[in-house]
Amino acid sequence: MPISSVILAAGQGTRMKTERPKVLHRIAGKTLLEHVVCAARTMIGKQQPIVIHGYQGDKLQQALSAQDILWVHQTEQLGTGHAVLQALPHIPDDHRVLILYADVPCISENTLNRFIENTPENALGILTAHFPDPKGLGRIIRNPQNQIIKIVEEKDASESIRAINEINSGIYIVPARYLKKWLPKLSNKNAQGEYYLTDIIEMAIAEKILIVDTEVTHFSEVLGVNTLQQLATLERFYQTQQAEKWMLHGVTLIDPARFDVRGTISIGQDTVIDVNVILEGNTIIGKRCAIGANCILRDVTLADDVEIRAHSIIDGAVIETQSTVGPFARIRPGTHLAHHSHIGNFVEIKNSSIGIASKVNHLSYIGDSEIGEQVNVGAGTITCNYDGASKHKTIIDDYAFIGSNTSLVAPVTIHAGATIGAGSTITRDAPANQLTVARSKQQSIANWQRPVKNTEKEVDTSRR
Ligand code: UD1
Ligand code: CA
Repeated sequence: MPISSVILAAGQGTRMKTERPKVLHRIAGKTLLEHVVCAARTMIGKQQPIVIHGYQGDKLQQALSAQDILWVHQTEQLGTGHAVLQALPHIPDDHRVLILYADVPCISENTLNRFIENTPENALGILTAHFPDPKGLGRIIRNPQNQIIKIVEEKDASESIRAINEINSGIYIVPARYLKKWLPKLSNKNAQGEYYLTDIIEMAIAEKILIVDTEVTHFSEVLGVNTLQQLATLERFYQTQQAEKWMLHGVTLIDPARFDVRGTISIGQDTVIDVNVILEGNTIIGKRCAIGANCILRDVTLADDVEIRAHSIIDGAVIETQSTVGPFARIRPGTHLAHHSHIGNFVEIKNSSIGIASKVNHLSYIGDSEIGEQVNVGAGTITCNYDGASKHKTIIDDYAFIGSNTSLVAPVTIHAGATIGAGSTITRDAPANQLTVARSKQQSIANWQRPVKNTEKEVDTSRR
């Protein structure tokens, strides 16, 4: 049976105490809602997930505008049962419906797969968990044969029911035709005056529909986010899972508690990552790389044996084998560093390619440049790539040597093997294999007298 997915996201989330809608808060750099939409997609293939929105729905739609979603508005938040009811006109009778919550973001593909496989097509599947602290959640009530007979919300629960720590995750898989029959019949005669989705359990039992429960492996997967503390707890849970995954792949993390992934990444074996490294976007790290402490890498591809030294920020760059970057380097989008290149401290590189075995070792800005092989760029070299209106290109051919404190005023080309004298301001192309110097000549003035202050005559100069 095909599966449709409904994601509930209409609630306000007042306990977050923020103006931002709850489900637009982020875990690992991605909104809670996107996490759940992605999880749903892995189960429903090409179909559109249905998102039920209410509170600040326009902001939700804006934030996820790149996603193909069927947005359904719930005008009043009358309860979870009422929310799912809004989706039913959009779901064919012969589908099963996977119900997810936008504020339960860490549900894994593995668990959802296991849950769906475990639930026969004509049964009602419910995902459960044991919580050390089940406060606020719906409790699972079982009969002496251990079958689920109902779910009781905390607010409707007696003392003895509150002592139960098996809870309802709120995630179900149910044939659409049952929901279409049951949901219009829900009542709101309960402590919260809401149409509870949980009441479908008793309806299923009344019709002798099989109920199959599946328990999650780790309860954090179905922890909901209601407060910023819970958001932080789930962020750590997510990051711990990432860290464990990469350690199992042969990556050394000096401290797995100080390793953060905010995107889709891949890391090769025998790579060593020091503390406080953040990996973002689509980042691919090769084998035997070393990433120093406090580095941020976003949308970066590192080949094998690359060393990124401490405190470097690298964004949108490709770095080839055996190159070294940092400490304290900033590499910006559009940069390609060829094999065995060296970028040193306090160097910024933007939209430039650096050839094989070339070095930019200290205090430089290289922008919109093409640098050939075995070039040496001296300390303090600046490419003046911007004239206030447009950007211009600097080309430095193979084997060139740029003396320290040089300004290269683009557009300009330094031809192969050229040497530029230190302190030059280069405004025209420099010919190959020659020394080009563009600075005022040094001169010394003989017999020059330093001016003398009147009072200075009284100072005892013997102590100088
Ligand atoms: C619900 C379950 C509870 C379960 C818990 C797990 C019911 C009655 N209770 O309780 O058994 O343990 O989830 O987290 O189902 N929402 C709407 N429209 C509404 C009401 C809610 O879209 O009218 C959305 C909320 O935005 C939220 C989700 O549904 O994403 C859950 O709603 P919430 O009110 O938080 O339910 P719980 O009280 O947590
Ligand atoms: Ca709630």
